[in-house]
Amino acid sequence: MTIDSIIVLIGYIILHVFSVAATESCLSSHTRKDGPYRKIRPIWMALYILISVLPILGTFWPESALKYEIMKYGNIWIGFDIYYCGFLLIFTIIDRVIRNIRSRKTEITLQPSRWTLILAIILALILPSYAMVHAQHPVVTYWTADLTKGEQEKGTYRVVLLADFHMSVNSDPALIEKTVELSNAQDADAVFIVGDFFTSNYEGLKEPEKYIAALSQLSAKEGVFGVYGNHDVKENLFCGFAVAPVSKAFRPHEMEEFLEACGFIMLEDGTIEIAGGDIVLAGRYDKDRVGDGTNIRKNAEELLDGIDPDRMIFVLEHEPKDYAELASAGVDVAFSGHTHRGQIWPCNYFIGLFNENAYGRKNVNGMETFVTSGIGYFGPPQRSGTDSEVMVIDITY
Ligand SMILES: [Fe+2]
Repeated sequence: MTIDSIIVLIGYIILHVFSVAATESCLSSHTRKDGPYRKIRPIWMALYILISVLPILGTFWPESALKYEIMKYGNIWIGFDIYYCGFLLIFTIIDRVIRNIRSRKTEITLQPSRWTLILAIILALILPSYAMVHAQHPVVTYWTADLTKGEQEKGTYRVVLLADFHMSVNSDPALIEKTVELSNAQDADAVFIVGDFFTSNYEGLKEPEKYIAALSQLSAKEGVFGVYGNHDVKENLFCGFAVAPVSKAFRPHEMEEFLEACGFIMLEDGTIEIAGGDIVLAGRYDKDRVGDGTNIRKNAEELLDGIDPDRMIFVLEHEPKDYAELASAGVDVAFSGHTHRGQIWPCNYFIGLFNENAYGRKNVNGMETFVTSGIGYFGPPQRSGTDSEVMVIDITY
């Protein structure tokens, strides 16, 4: 296992030992010693522990249909559970601090009060339930960029930017169908899909033909162009972290055949001309997972070798990274996804700490960058505080 995944696994276990112990001590202290709770206590504890182990089982279970069922329900569970554990921990600490201040004592205990427990349960039911429904309703957002720099304009190029379908055990073809419908209604010059079509497995995707049928309807005047993301490889993940090193991460041919059947033009560290030759479109391999067991890809200079930097250059780059390198190579606009804008509350408040541009439009060293919130979801099938997004960008050049 990688160091990252070991740390996350230990954190997950510690959090669950706390939540089981804290819940139990609260329930015990508020029920009669000879009451009915004593009889059901072993049952709920065993059930809670069993369900909490699902995400771990899903990661390490051998390849089979059962593995992907465990992963599916493990992801749904984790979406509720992480809020329960989080709220319980935070509310308990706040409650304890307030009590200590009032009583002027320093009592160190993590036993939640009755109201702390009830509030954590209610919020852990309401928030994920809303987020599961909200995740299935993509919205269209409109953006502009003026690249003329005071010169005579040649025209306007309309791009629909999509990303992060994350087709896997918890995806729903209906979301992809809605996305295609919204995108096609924009009458775009091109659709750019900037990676993470899948979530690190292909075998977990049920009825791929339904997805292909929907995605092959996606259209634009000049076509649909794509690049691969860090999850368009085969990998075992625990809570989003790969358990094996990058040398084990290969792209299965099924993923490539799927995208070929959709009619997408995949750019693999390559370039193509669009807008009648006015614009050079470059597409990069993912920074962390190229798909051949390495993270070695062309640098920006190699990618654009032989291309006049004074030409209009667009780059599809899954992760919003290496902006300075792209800008100094003469890139005018970089299109990315990957961040999901944080996907679920409150991650949307922190995602900006880890990315130069976590969402929307930002000018970096004279280069315009656009990052979409993406379509699908990673892990829990939820979106809260963020939207599933079809980003429409009109670029004047
Ligand atoms: Fe990604």
